[in-house]
Amino acid sequence: MSNNSKFKIKTYNTISVKGLDRFSRDRYEVASEIVHPDAYLLRSHKLHGEAIPKTLVAVARAGAGVNNIPVEEYSSKGVVVFNTPGANANAVKELVLAGLLLGSRGITAGMDYVQTLTSITDAGEMSKLLEKEKKHFAGNELYGRTLGVVGLGAIGSMVAEMALALGMKVLGYDPALSVEAAWRLPSQVQRMENLQSLLHNSDYVSLHVPAIEATHHLINAESLQSAKKGMILVNFARDAIVDAEAVVASLDSGNLAQYICDFPEPCLLGRPDVIAMPHIGASTAEAEENCAVMAADQVMDYLENGNVTNSVNFPAVMMARAGSARITFSNDNVSGVLGQVLSVLADHKVNVLDMMNKSRGNLAYNIIDVEEAPEPGLVKAIEAVEHVIGVRVI
Ligand SMILES: NC(=O)c1ccc[n+]([C@@H]2O[C@H](COP(=O)([O-])OP(=O)(O)OC[C@H]3O[C@@H](n4cnc5c(N)ncnc54)[C@H](O)[C@@H]3O)[C@@H](O)[C@H]2O)c1
Repeated sequence: MSNNSKFKIKTYNTISVKGLDRFSRDRYEVASEIVHPDAYLLRSHKLHGEAIPKTLVAVARAGAGVNNIPVEEYSSKGVVVFNTPGANANAVKELVLAGLLLGSRGITAGMDYVQTLTSITDAGEMSKLLEKEKKHFAGNELYGRTLGVVGLGAIGSMVAEMALALGMKVLGYDPALSVEAAWRLPSQVQRMENLQSLLHNSDYVSLHVPAIEATHHLINAESLQSAKKGMILVNFARDAIVDAEAVVASLDSGNLAQYICDFPEPCLLGRPDVIAMPHIGASTAEAEENCAVMAADQVMDYLENGNVTNSVNFPAVMMARAGSARITFSNDNVSGVLGQVLSVLADHKVNVLDMMNKSRGNLAYNIIDVEEAPEPGLVKAIEAVEHVIGVRVI
């Protein structure tokens, strides 16, 4: 904590007021211009190339992706980086519903057609014409159709639940499903062994996997060969997951019926069988608020208690407080560091009440509760232990 005993939060970008209101004014100073910040709160501001202040211990992104943050650089300084996974899941789920409906009914073509009738001035005449022409805009119902969901995490599981509520049959594929996500999943979702069988058995397929190396062009010319004829592909995940050229080829061959996505690419434009939205999946006021509130809460819990939830570089750690002081430190994940720190504590006759040590990749993070606030000499001694990166007393 900085000198005037308030935590200092520097905000980049406009952060939803609901999120900012989480910080009590008596414990926090929150501003876009701030010196010696304890934490950053940001959305899409790029931190690459910016010097990391010595006082900084946390960065929280109100959003899911963190490619605007050089995470490794921040890890090497012991700065925890948070994101807000799932905070925009409902927003994306609702747009997927719109996508499914737009793909099933002649909504956009019908609306476009109606706009061509401006020369007709008589309502009766217009109504008569529309009754004659509406057959061109007929479609199908979602009820009874099969939706394949690829990736059953925060968004995929909500989409699966929504589809079941619409009376759809739902197939799911997720080889890396977490236990937590599995618990969340409705039991009616039929788990598929592989992507091929999901594609082969679905009328609609909705993608909800992260854009990582393993999912790059997951949907490509080869996988599309397994697609059921007339399948509608829905992608509100990321552009890199789908090979757009392969999709165009499959649409041209008549195998894929439609591609509905949040990621327009030149090869997709001007086609009646493509509906492309301008990456608006998470663009709702509610999603922005949810992200800001989640980011603020996570930062506060870290600053006040050292707990870590939804970090992309630190292990998840949550420990109820015991005693009147808490020491936290991060270190390179090599053996012996915690032992050395504990012997420093023993040398200073500090009694440890509770402790927790977790690691993630090259980094380890520790919480140690002690009886009384340690003297500054002790903190310096812990900092001096080889491989210790950052020490805090809270
Ligand atoms: N359109 C938008 O504006 C928008 C907004 C938010 C999120 N997204 C994107 O939506 C996607 C899903 O987000 P989320 O919050 O649900 O993520 P999540 O991490 O909660 O879930 C992703 C799921 O995908 C699974 N998975 C990983 N690799 C897989 C593979 N090869 N095959 C099948 N499943 C696999 C994981 O096990 C996990 O269950 C992400 O790509 C995210 O970037 C898009």
